[in-house]
Amino acid sequence: MLLRSVGGLAGITVLAPTALLTAYHDTAVAGTNRDGAAHYGLENGPFDVDIRLRAQPHTAPILPGTPSEVWRYTAELRNGPADTITPVGGSYTGPLIRLRRGQRFHARLENGLPEDTTVHWHGLHVPSDVDGQPRLPIKPGEAMTVAFDVVDRAGLYWYHPHPHGPNGGRVGFQSYAGLAGPLVIEDEAERALGLPAGEREMFLVIQDRSFAGDNELTYLDSGMGTMMTRMRGFLGDRILVNGQPDTAREVATRPYRLRILNGSNSRIYKLAWSDGRPMTVLGTDGGLLGAPRQYPFVTLAPAQRIDLWVDLSANEPGDELHLLSDSYQAGMMGDGMGDGCKRGSRRGGRMGNMMGGSELPAGARFDILPLRVTRRERGNERLPKRLAEDLQAPPVERDAPVRRFKLSMVMMRGFAINGRQFEGATVADDEIVHLGSTEVWEFVNDSMMPHPMHVHGLQFAVVGREQIGGGRGWSGLAAGLVDSGLHDTVLVLPGERVRIALTFADFEGLYLYHCHNMEHEDNGMMRYYRVRA
Ligand code: C2O
Ligand code: CU
Ligand code: CU
Repeated sequence: MLLRSVGGLAGITVLAPTALLTAYHDTAVAGTNRDGAAHYGLENGPFDVDIRLRAQPHTAPILPGTPSEVWRYTAELRNGPADTITPVGGSYTGPLIRLRRGQRFHARLENGLPEDTTVHWHGLHVPSDVDGQPRLPIKPGEAMTVAFDVVDRAGLYWYHPHPHGPNGGRVGFQSYAGLAGPLVIEDEAERALGLPAGEREMFLVIQDRSFAGDNELTYLDSGMGTMMTRMRGFLGDRILVNGQPDTAREVATRPYRLRILNGSNSRIYKLAWSDGRPMTVLGTDGGLLGAPRQYPFVTLAPAQRIDLWVDLSANEPGDELHLLSDSYQAGMMGDGMGDGCKRGSRRGGRMGNMMGGSELPAGARFDILPLRVTRRERGNERLPKRLAEDLQAPPVERDAPVRRFKLSMVMMRGFAINGRQFEGATVADDEIVHLGSTEVWEFVNDSMMPHPMHVHGLQFAVVGREQIGGGRGWSGLAAGLVDSGLHDTVLVLPGERVRIALTFADFEGLYLYHCHNMEHEDNGMMRYYRVRA
């Protein structure tokens, strides 16, 4: 059985991959192409990059001993530069897909899973029909092809499933089972900066997982646990980087570039260096900042990316530098909820699990990435003073209308946006925006949980953040919120009002906006909006 879990999730049988992968038939919604798969997007090649991306059950060695059953993306390059697809981690993490701005991209997406899935290109500015939304599922044994132009800024994006059925979303389950991978876009301007590359550029997908004694991944554990998970989101008790528990890396005395994706279902990280040096941030979800900025620590919510510079040239062989994360903020009530709950939570701590949320004792730290300096090397890399010239926040007019979204709890059903939960591809009157317009959206968090709010199809600028209500317990995260640069996901803490400016360019149609705490999203904290000419 894959993944110990409750209700409808139990008893999933792992089908032989070969049986599923031979006979694909048409999804028959858009035109079909010569592969016999439904085809969305650009009909005409030539395509600069053509890949096959397959989701299927697999076993992966994660912990010592029995390999774990996972779901995994595998990719095959059919046409394009040889470095388009690079495996990461050797476990379940989807391969790094490397694209260049300006490329015409084509992908055949194959579903080798026993249930519907989709492939969403998180953060990319792509037409609605190739965005991997739940309204266009790929059925088991079927395939879909999508094509789009790569127009986004150089930056780290990612891909993951986005199915949502009559019983709720399956994003949390499928991502947790292993379906997620990093996607990087490069361009000439970025290359000209000469930032650390090759083995000195690390792509790190950070995720929390829990395992049963036989190395089986566990997701939701009991009835009560399910209820709490719905409210709080899933929190695992171990941190994996690229699907691996042993994350130490050997490094030289030179600068490194760390490109980090929080691919966790709901855990928020508070990333800091073990020697107290500041975090030097080069970029965010939507690519490089105008100039590097320093923070005491970085608050990284689910789905967010951060691009870090870390210079080890003043270190000596034998030194270690650890990227750490505090665990306290994972509690349901943050650090304001008595420590007692959290302290008891690891063993015999049902109460801690249910109320405190954090599975680690108070004050415990996750050692996310130990860097071991093993050799002296000399380079002449300098941290650039300027990074990007093309960073432009949407011009917001003083009197631009503000569209307000209230984030609140619905008793027993999770969370809602303006009192509404997911209703499929229907939009209310106040969820229609005009093609080409720039708006200010305001998220007001009226609940006691933080919500990482994500908008599909674009990158936005954070133009305001204020505390207007209670929100006790979460203020410890505030100093690490990186609001400069461009984002597709912004963390809205309890009691906060956050304003973003977004421009709805190029594409009409339906897009999603939702909380990227995957359990919140799956339980209805998601809506469609429509871009109309
Ligand atoms: Cu990471 Cu709706 O997406
Ligand atoms: Cu997305
Ligand atoms: Cu949420």
